[in-house]
Amino acid sequence: MDESDWAELKHAAVRARANAYAPYSGFTVGAAILSETGRVFAGCNVENASFGATLCAERTALAAAVSAGERELRALVIATGAKSPTPPCGICRQCLTELAPGLAIRSYAGEVCADYAVAALLPDAFGRGHLD
Ligand code: THU
Repeated sequence: MDESDWAELKHAAVRARANAYAPYSGFTVGAAILSETGRVFAGCNVENASFGATLCAERTALAAAVSAGERELRALVIATGAKSPTPPCGICRQCLTELAPGLAIRSYAGEVCADYAVAALLPDAFGRGHLD
């Protein structure tokens, strides 16, 4: 990933954030994933009156990538309006572990960013091997 790759992903995440449906929390999130083939898939959070049915931005972007047939995923950018960069929630960590364990993650709060790695966010993850 060079800086222009990150900038392109950030742009897509910020744009997707504008589409967030967050009438309950007011916390809008955008996400964008870059696949190994160079395609970008964006998502936003989509809330529900039944709060547990809410979809996070990271998972909508992940589902968009997988739905397009992309399984090799390189990087994820998260964009929020929080005071400081926010990491993915626990459910998203589990989903990213399943489909993109090697993903590089950068989270932006305005121009401030933080980097994360999936494996470090969810150590000792439950995975397909535990179903044997
Ligand atoms: N949310 C995300 O979309 N991604 C995150 O990383 C954290 C939380 C959403 C879920 C909910 O719509 C709102 O932010 C507040 O939790």
